[in-house]
Amino acid sequence: MYLGLDLGTSSLKALLIDENEGVIAEETVPLTGTRPRDGWSEQDPGDWLAATDTVLTALGGRADLGAVAGIGLSGHMHGVVLLDAVDRVLRPCMMWNDTRAHDQAARMDAEPGWREITGNIVFPGFSAPKAAWVRETEPETWDRVSACLLPKDFLRLYLTGERVAEMSDASGTAWLDVGARDWSDDLLARSGLDRAAVGRLVEGAEVSGGLRAVLAQRHGLPEGVPVAGGAGDNASSAIGMGVVARGQAFVSLGTSGVLFAATEGFSPRPETAVHSFCHALAGTWHQMGVILSATDSLNWAARLMGEDPAALTAGLDELRAPGRPVFLPYLGGERTPLNSATARGAFLGLDHATDRAAATRAVIEGVTFALRDCRDALAETGTAIDSLVAVGGGSRSDYWLEAIATALDVPVDVPQAGEYGAALGAARLGRMAATGDTAAAAPPVARRIEPVEALSDAFAAGHARYRDAARFAAGFG
Ligand code: XUL
Repeated sequence: MYLGLDLGTSSLKALLIDENEGVIAEETVPLTGTRPRDGWSEQDPGDWLAATDTVLTALGGRADLGAVAGIGLSGHMHGVVLLDAVDRVLRPCMMWNDTRAHDQAARMDAEPGWREITGNIVFPGFSAPKAAWVRETEPETWDRVSACLLPKDFLRLYLTGERVAEMSDASGTAWLDVGARDWSDDLLARSGLDRAAVGRLVEGAEVSGGLRAVLAQRHGLPEGVPVAGGAGDNASSAIGMGVVARGQAFVSLGTSGVLFAATEGFSPRPETAVHSFCHALAGTWHQMGVILSATDSLNWAARLMGEDPAALTAGLDELRAPGRPVFLPYLGGERTPLNSATARGAFLGLDHATDRAAATRAVIEGVTFALRDCRDALAETGTAIDSLVAVGGGSRSDYWLEAIATALDVPVDVPQAGEYGAALGAARLGRMAATGDTAAAAPPVARRIEPVEALSDAFAAGHARYRDAARFAAGFG
């Protein structure tokens, strides 16, 4: 059997699968973060380790972990975990949706080299500008930095004792030469770092190390069982959904929203604000449009209305033509296509009749239109999407998936394993590292959601109104 550990923004999930990829057991522990200031988003990496022990203990109560033959890791991307010489955490992790380093990012992005070498904009949420923020703002912390690891790689350090990074996640640091699949010594040196600080690079399906004896004993796992390179959470979802070859794509409705397409090779177009990254399998790449607040927008609205997010969407009936109000989901800035840390959200066109259902529909439409922007940005790079697989918590809402199918004009498949997404990908990478077999088939589809043709003009018009409204969003900063 194989174990997948998925370090998500709102929970850590552990998934156990058998040799035929049937699910044996799953355990989840919630995680919380803080937003100490506008634009900041932090988590305590110590919580991730405690959560790992909790899920493994719970899983051990349901299955014999002694039969685990491989472990895979997945995690939220771009986070900066700073460690001292003896691997102690120096400050809270600055998360993927932390945009405080926007000045540093803009400076780097304007400097020759960054875009040319990485193939991407230096977004404020990427690792390099956040490290620069610490260097400039917290020099006493920076002076003690010996390692700067991505979140799932910090988890790996706990599991294996080794500082190892992996290609798909490393692509989001702004220190990787993404085309060459290697660290850029030049870019690392500009950040005051070197290869030793960011870890030895492996591919996602390679063995990165073996499980430490102390953890093996604590959880009844085999000592030294191989831990795969793993992947950033989006590449990991792609592995789980079999999105590995050109023409295959998925939409993720998690805390972030992602439109992800596997690509033929590496052909970056940074000016579109599309991310062009290594995929988790050797010699493969992908592109994605990323929005910062997908289910996070719905959660925000639910909090405001004193409701449960699932209850809000469950209260919606048939898909309707988008109308008033228009919602902009830029609660914490936006990546694709705006690249703006200062853009903020809005409800425009409220009236006396705006009720809970109308506000909920607007939030869902706003996130959906943001994903349509991502589709258009991907199209500018030459990446067309013919169909999508849906993953993430938001994909439990058929209303939302029907809105996406209609707005993007593509059928959306709901996999039977949709709940597992990145955790399934992680478990698969564990299997790949243990066996050397890198097959990643698409899991069975539970149902297909078709675009509602009668509403496609109305959704196009709604998107045009959304684009008009978005022009003002940068002014809210
Ligand atoms: C991708 C991104 C998010 C995080 C959290 O670039 O920032 O999708 O990985 O899921």
